[in-house]
Amino acid sequence: MPQKLDTQDGDIPAWERFAQANAEYYILTSNPPESSPESMERFFATGRQQADAILQESAPWLSGYGKAIEIGCGVGRLTIPMANRFARVVGVDIAPTMLDKLRANAVRFETPNIEGAQVEQCWEADGDADFLYSWLVLQHIEQQELIARLLARTAAALAPTGIAYLQFDTRPRTRGYRLRSYLPDALLPAVWRRGLRRIRRAPETLAALFEEVGLSLLCAYRPGTALHSFLLKRR
Ligand SMILES: C[S@@+](CC[C@H](N)C(=O)[O-])C[C@H]1O[C@@H](n2cnc3c(N)ncnc32)[C@H](O)[C@@H]1O
Repeated sequence: MPQKLDTQDGDIPAWERFAQANAEYYILTSNPPESSPESMERFFATGRQQADAILQESAPWLSGYGKAIEIGCGVGRLTIPMANRFARVVGVDIAPTMLDKLRANAVRFETPNIEGAQVEQCWEADGDADFLYSWLVLQHIEQQELIARLLARTAAALAPTGIAYLQFDTRPRTRGYRLRSYLPDALLPAVWRRGLRRIRRAPETLAALFEEVGLSLLCAYRPGTALHSFLLKRR
């Protein structure tokens, strides 16, 4: 069973603590917390399916399979299948333990074209990515300034013909949702606590942020749901 975690206290950021406690469980809380060869196989199988779905939705605008960047790569559930499609994939994450596990999985799945980068590093500096994607990550980030910063870095990372595929939770902020946001973590089930809970954002707020950082919308899938995905290019 995963350790019970308080997502707020202590000096270690929440996702580093999740990574140390049971990375695969916190990445995909629909999976059982007990690790077994079968559960790990299922975990990576979901990644292959999701990577295929992301690429299928992006295909009409994708102009090359040179370099891809994943923001919030975790242990490589999606990075590994993407590395079978792109020449090079850079997995960016905030949690050092996630990146250690990414590197170990890259060896295990024989995908030497994966590199790990801490989010503070300058992974956007070359501006040559054909594709940048982020799945089940931005939905967990509470501070809008941090989202704005990651969007600006996304725009900088893309090649002139590159595209970004970003998932957000844009379900309406119901009364129940707003009430939960005010309650202390101690009163909430683990998946609603700070760090792990999903932050709902209005599509109009996101549209304004995209505009601000120079990203323009190509297409969106599943609007108004927890898996609202935006395809964007540099303006
Ligand atoms: C739910 S997991 C998703 C992992 C992966 N995208 C997948 O679908 O398997 C969220 C990941 O985002 C990372 N993360 C959270 N906040 C981040 C941030 N501000 N910058 C980069 N990575 C972040 C976490 O450490 C974790 O690995």
